[in-house]
Amino acid sequence: EKGGYKHFMLKEIHEQPRSIADTIRGRVLPDGSRIVYKEIGISYEELALTKKIYLVACGTSYHACLIGKYMIERIARIPVEVDIASEFRYREVPFERDSLFIAITQSGETADTLAALRYAKKSGVKTLTICNVVGSTASREADGVFYTHSGPEIGVASTKAFTSQIVALYIFTFALSKAKRANPADINEIFLSKLFHLPTMAEKALKLEDKIHQLAKEVYKKPNFLYLGRGLNYPVALEGALKLKEISYIHAEGYAAGEMKHGPIALVEEGFPVVFIVSDDLYLEKTLSNMEEIKARDGFIITISSSKEEKLKKLSDRFIYVEGINSYLNTVLFSIPLQLLAYHVAILRGCDVDQPRNLAKSVTVE
Ligand code: F6R
Repeated sequence: EKGGYKHFMLKEIHEQPRSIADTIRGRVLPDGSRIVYKEIGISYEELALTKKIYLVACGTSYHACLIGKYMIERIARIPVEVDIASEFRYREVPFERDSLFIAITQSGETADTLAALRYAKKSGVKTLTICNVVGSTASREADGVFYTHSGPEIGVASTKAFTSQIVALYIFTFALSKAKRANPADINEIFLSKLFHLPTMAEKALKLEDKIHQLAKEVYKKPNFLYLGRGLNYPVALEGALKLKEISYIHAEGYAAGEMKHGPIALVEEGFPVVFIVSDDLYLEKTLSNMEEIKARDGFIITISSSKEEKLKKLSDRFIYVEGINSYLNTVLFSIPLQLLAYHVAILRGCDVDQPRNLAKSVTVE
């Protein structure tokens, strides 16, 4: 049942090239020229009218929402509000006209997410869910469903479901962007065609496992970790930290790299591990200066990056190069080594990775 792997989590991490391909299949034509709208249950015309999007979820799915915000705002040019489900439902949100509410949930059964979805529906807002479990409560109650089709996820820590949520958001963003005519068609096609490289690139990212395992041996006894990123990599940092803390019980925090000097830098002392997630984009320069601040305090810098910039390598104590695609899809590729790091650290610490203490696969109480 674990397909030769020791744990479901490891199996599911390794399934990602396939699960990502399954999320893409049937939604977009291979030449990137057409997006299939029908199954979403929300018409092209309705998408074209959308003026505001609310993305709501819990835990790892919430991190996918944050990534979605960067994608939708930049590509489709529609304002997006993101919230944690348990907060959203009590906020008494004054919904704007022509809004679309999207609940992201792997299980489709998370109580707070369902409550937020029902609240939006009751308020007369059109609702969509990005969901993995076919026939789940969320999929039955929302007006539209975008299934991630990543297959059953057994490990309590979400891995392949998360990367499929990002892929679903990427496809959805282009559907929206086309409907809104936010970008010229050729730009859409350039970005969409990149998507078809993702399974192969995920396969390549998995080949980093030995390197990550060695790294895990160096750091598994550390009591605290900080994960930093900017832009789309900020939510990736949050997710990297969540993965480590939930299965290895090491205290880990994710932060926007630019926020570091507003508090968390006080923690940094000799040998303090700081994981930087860096794309080869407009944030690179700024992130380098954050790294210098850590270096000056003798922190232990682990860098996961698609850039080969010399300065970046020089500042890093350990450098993991991940071949990238674009800053949107790199969020998927960077998540893979971060999942593997959490997994190997947890194993070295003797933890039960598939059944971490105090956690349940789906949280059906509020
Ligand atoms: C973390 C994890 C949880 C879930 C959260 C929401 O690895 O799995 O944080 O992401 O409980 O679950 P779903 O997506 O089923 O609503």
